[in-house]
Amino acid sequence: MPTMRHCIQFLLNDQTITLNEVGTGDMLLDFLRLNQRLTGAKEGCAEGDCGACTVLVGRLVDDELIYEPVNGCIRFLSSLDGCHVVTIEHLKGAEGTLHPIQKAMIEHHGSQCGFCTPGIIMALYALWMRTAKPSREQIEHALQGNLCRCTGYEPIIRAAQAVCYDQDWPRSDPLLDERAMVKEALSKLKHDQSVLLQKQGDSGPEQIFIPANEEDLANFYAEHPDATLIAGATDAGLWVTKFLSSIPALIHIGNLKALKTIKYKGDSLTIGSGVSYSDAMPDLIKAFPMIEPYLLRIGGWQVRSMGTIGGNIANGSPIGDMPPILIALGAEICLKSVEGSRQLPLEDFFLAYGKQDRQPGEYLHSIHIPLMAANNEVAAYKISKRRDEDISSVAVGFNLVIENGIIRSARIAFGGMAATPKRAQAAEKTLIGQPFSEESMIKAAQILEEEFTPLSDMRASSAYRMKVAQNLFRRFYLEKANGFTGLEAAQ
Ligand SMILES: Cc1cc2nc3c(=O)[nH]c(=O)nc-3n(C[C@H](O)[C@H](O)[C@H](O)COP(=O)(O)OP(=O)(O)OC[C@H]3O[C@@H](n4cnc5c(N)ncnc54)[C@H](O)[C@@H]3O)c2cc1C
Ligand code: FES
Ligand code: FES
Repeated sequence: MPTMRHCIQFLLNDQTITLNEVGTGDMLLDFLRLNQRLTGAKEGCAEGDCGACTVLVGRLVDDELIYEPVNGCIRFLSSLDGCHVVTIEHLKGAEGTLHPIQKAMIEHHGSQCGFCTPGIIMALYALWMRTAKPSREQIEHALQGNLCRCTGYEPIIRAAQAVCYDQDWPRSDPLLDERAMVKEALSKLKHDQSVLLQKQGDSGPEQIFIPANEEDLANFYAEHPDATLIAGATDAGLWVTKFLSSIPALIHIGNLKALKTIKYKGDSLTIGSGVSYSDAMPDLIKAFPMIEPYLLRIGGWQVRSMGTIGGNIANGSPIGDMPPILIALGAEICLKSVEGSRQLPLEDFFLAYGKQDRQPGEYLHSIHIPLMAANNEVAAYKISKRRDEDISSVAVGFNLVIENGIIRSARIAFGGMAATPKRAQAAEKTLIGQPFSEESMIKAAQILEEEFTPLSDMRASSAYRMKVAQNLFRRFYLEKANGFTGLEAAQ
């Protein structure tokens, strides 16, 4: 491997931070509060759910400065090389006054106990920077990842609307004014070397590797197959903050350009495994508009900014939201290692609970999704206890090809119904050659009992899961037969 760096550097508000020693379990929020005494961001849940720890992370993408809200509590400190971290302390208005968002939150009583307030202001600030006149729906989506136990949200939404629509408030913002300087500073921090950080931790030696390119990733992972790959850390961060696990070696792939590409090739869309939900959504929605409401129910904005499609597949969870719809769409995945690359249908990746078809040193490179033809009827549904920021009890993807009223092919995949994401193959078989009717769908739904024995757990009982899965067959028919796009029905 060519020359290696042994430090990370990032901008924190208007200061350059250089760190030579970082622990594998060090989180951004602890660094801000304990090391830098920037105590505006709060720790509520320490698992990405409440948004009290929201800060912005900016990065240069093709020379453009993009800021996203992230959960500081589960963001690995070592993932910030080359980024700009903006905390609530940096927010201000012209000449030392409050920022218009802060002012509006006061004037509209958007803050009571105040614990959630810095996180809410940072999420609204991220929205305000990119959308001058957001709709109420956009404001609600921006706040999906922020909990407030006092205000009931209406005053916060009124504050957000006021700051965006009230003509009296000038759209001035020191951070926007500083952009040229920040870009210059980040350009200076840019480098093309891989980074290796080593430290003696409490439980033994710790090492962090940040590959500069795919070749370095493949070589390092081949030599250290037990290292943990970290993409967006929205699963892995919780192993540290909730299970108090120590990670001896980790490899950050979240900023690796080679895994962040989105390409159309022939009749398929290829999404790099490191593409976040937020970055993938415009293309996924363009190709499959009916799944937009489904995608908007994955996590909150912070989780969608950090979490990747690849991480949702590679974690092997039976309740991840992307595998059911991707399997239904006929997606294939590409795995790579020093040995080369191989491609397999996504459903074949999931072997058993906690076991995937991935060899030591192999990483998920990309996901290929065939585009729909005119006669495909596609939908994805998520059933969870809470509408937003909740894990699915049952999720399903439907993809039927219907010609002249007859079902010619069917791909239906469930999450939450088995130990892995799983196709409903017997039900699919029953549908093929049948008219697309309520009767056919109900008949196929009954077959589910022959091929699935769902678990009972704290989210749902086995009987509930089965019933709801069967009902979703009927819902799919009623929506499609009535000409709904899926957008209305899932609101
Ligand atoms: C508050 C909150 C809400 C959430 N809501 C949802 C939800 O609504 N629906 C849902 O499905 N999930 C949800 N999740 C779970 C999580 O966000 C997703 O599973 C996410 O897609 C994981 O991606 P990541 O990049 O963060 O993965 P990471 O946490 O970085 O990694 C997850 C696992 O995948 C492995 N991995 C990552 N990338 C690769 C790769 N390229 N090759 C091989 N292995 C890899 C890692 O080693 C690790 O084992 C939520 C999480 C939180 C914290
Ligand atoms: S502390 Fe709750 S999301 Fe971070
Ligand atoms: S103001 Fe108290 S939690 Fe929001």
